[in-house]
Amino acid sequence: MRTLLIAASILTTVLALRNGLAITPQMGWNTWNSFGCAISEDIVLSSAELIVKWGFKDLGYEYVIIDDCWSAGRNSTGHLQANSTKFPNGIADVASKVHAMGLKLGIYSDAGNFTCGGYEGSLGHEEIDAQTWASWGVDYLKYDNCNNDGQMGTAQATASRYKVMQRALNATGRPILYSMCNWGDDAVWVWGSTVANSWRMAGDVFDMFDRPDPRCPCDEYTYLTCTESGFYCSVMNVVNKVAQIISKGGPGNWNDMDMLQIGNGGMQDSEYKIQMSVWAAAKSPMIMGNDLRKMDANTLSILQNTAVLSVSQDVKGSGAERSWRYFVPDQDKYGQGEIALWVGGLNGPGQYGDQLVLFTNTGTQDRRMNASLATIFFDSGPEGSAPQIKESWEVYDLWANRMDNATANAIINGNGTVPSDARWNATANGGYAGLPSSTEKALMGTKVGTIQPGGTLWADVKGRDVGMFRLRQVGAGKKKRDEL
Ligand SMILES: *[C@@H]1O[C@H](CO)[C@@H](O)[C@H](O)[C@H]1NC(C)=O
Ligand SMILES: *[C@@H]1O[C@H](CO)[C@@H](O)[C@H](O)[C@H]1NC(C)=O
Ligand SMILES: *[C@@H]1O[C@H](CO)[C@@H](O)[C@H](O)[C@H]1NC(C)=O
Ligand SMILES: *[C@@H]1O[C@H](CO)[C@@H](O)[C@H](O)[C@H]1NC(C)=O
Ligand SMILES: *[C@@H]1O[C@H](CO)[C@@H](O)[C@H](O)[C@H]1NC(C)=O
Ligand SMILES: *[C@@H]1O[C@H](CO)[C@@H](O)[C@H](O)[C@H]1NC(C)=O
Ligand SMILES: *[C@@H]1O[C@H](CO)[C@@H](O)[C@H](O)[C@H]1NC(C)=O
Ligand SMILES: *[C@@H]1O[C@H](CO)[C@@H](O)[C@H](O)[C@H]1NC(C)=O
Repeated sequence: MRTLLIAASILTTVLALRNGLAITPQMGWNTWNSFGCAISEDIVLSSAELIVKWGFKDLGYEYVIIDDCWSAGRNSTGHLQANSTKFPNGIADVASKVHAMGLKLGIYSDAGNFTCGGYEGSLGHEEIDAQTWASWGVDYLKYDNCNNDGQMGTAQATASRYKVMQRALNATGRPILYSMCNWGDDAVWVWGSTVANSWRMAGDVFDMFDRPDPRCPCDEYTYLTCTESGFYCSVMNVVNKVAQIISKGGPGNWNDMDMLQIGNGGMQDSEYKIQMSVWAAAKSPMIMGNDLRKMDANTLSILQNTAVLSVSQDVKGSGAERSWRYFVPDQDKYGQGEIALWVGGLNGPGQYGDQLVLFTNTGTQDRRMNASLATIFFDSGPEGSAPQIKESWEVYDLWANRMDNATANAIINGNGTVPSDARWNATANGGYAGLPSSTEKALMGTKVGTIQPGGTLWADVKGRDVGMFRLRQVGAGKKKRDEL
């Protein structure tokens, strides 16, 4: 028994992919949602320039990812070639220009005979393709699942197909973030961490909030055994799936809820706030998919809320769990409306760290929501036995300092004033790894109150909106000294 246990723990350690990448969820931008197959060198490079110019790079958005349709098949020696109309100077040239801007380049392929767009796939060509990308200076691979030659249907079949590429990437010696895109099939959340840095855990998320669609046939109730992941999944469809598998993600290996749709026009502002908040809390990769040339103030001020990004990039790397969810009578035209509480641990100065509290209200009505300390810290001890309940907690509202339109427009237009504390400069501060001080608005938001021992957090949450808070133990530093 003892030997078995030790063997099992060694196996787990050996099996998780450890390539030093995605220690916090990767951040970046991808061509697909805005451009589909109509991509070009100019689109990729001009988008990269905007990522730098508007400060996204300095907030941590690092990977510029070329999705499907870049290739023109293989040459006579079997090497993938870029389409020379779209990429006249080749991918290596794009990579070196992206690197010169301080960013990293991602590329796309498929663990099948053809990509989803019908271009050459990498199945059976893993080594040569990985070598080609490495020789071009590629830093990231999004690896899709179309036309997979029937090598699927069991975890074994899918995992071994994806593992071939993982070994090929490793063999290049170049650190290449491996983003697996098999849409949640074959229970990828069970074995994904042994193969990839991230794995898509559901079908493609569309730019819609909660509209059911028959093309996304798996709902939250059938999710764990469903075999038709589909596409046209709503934000809430994916949210209610990931709630079931949060614990499968961790530093180096993340559940991928698919790209951010923020700024693409299909949802209202507060629905995009919900996507940003839950993606950050659940520790999904944060990959923008909007046309950056059409950036507006609302979009920029959501994507650049560094108090929310500091939750995503928190060094604990522990996804928030959904503590409860209730359906509410004030439903929308699709018959959808629910309220939920998500809680999770964050890095903090106190003996228990900081704590995230996220209320989501997808009902149509504004409401007062509450969570007692006993509920917020339930996982540290049920029924009021958690030691945290005896402490007082300062409450910081992570959306209270969302930048106003004047600031966002000053960034977009390159004129006007941008206060230095409008956002956290991750480049200047070594990322988000430091311990946020309570006075850093860009990381902490605004202090809105204190919860006394045994108390309850109350929040007024608008219809279709969130309340997102960071709790910090009162007198945290002092208590530590007393104990010495
Ligand atoms: C962040 O800091 C770096 C280095 O100090 C600086 O060059 C850059 O302009 C800053 N970025 C923003 C968006 O303020
Ligand atoms: C390359 O891209 C151009 C422009 O989209 C397209 O017309 C052409 O068919 C593509 N070539 C190949 C080989 O895919
Ligand atoms: C095919 O492409 C590879 C990689 O771009 C290149 O090194 C090789 O020389 C090309 N082969 C031919 C025959 O053009
Ligand atoms: C797909 O690729 C695999 C591996 O190269 C090959 O064995 C198989 O015959 C191909 N299938 C089709 C339908 O081309
Ligand atoms: C290859 O895998 C080994 C063993 O997991 C790891 O230590 C190394 O960093 C990997 N190298 C690359 C380039 O991914
Ligand atoms: C801020 O700008 C957005 C466009 O991004 C606009 O819809 C909104 O009404 C503006 N808000 C205010 C308060 O002016
Ligand atoms: C507190 O929240 C719970 C869960 O939504 C709800 O059942 C309860 O009625 C709320 N309490 C008050 C006093 O509003
Ligand atoms: C900044 O530039 C924009 C677009 O050119 C212009 O509409 C706006 O009035 C300018 N704002 C300031 C404060 O100069």
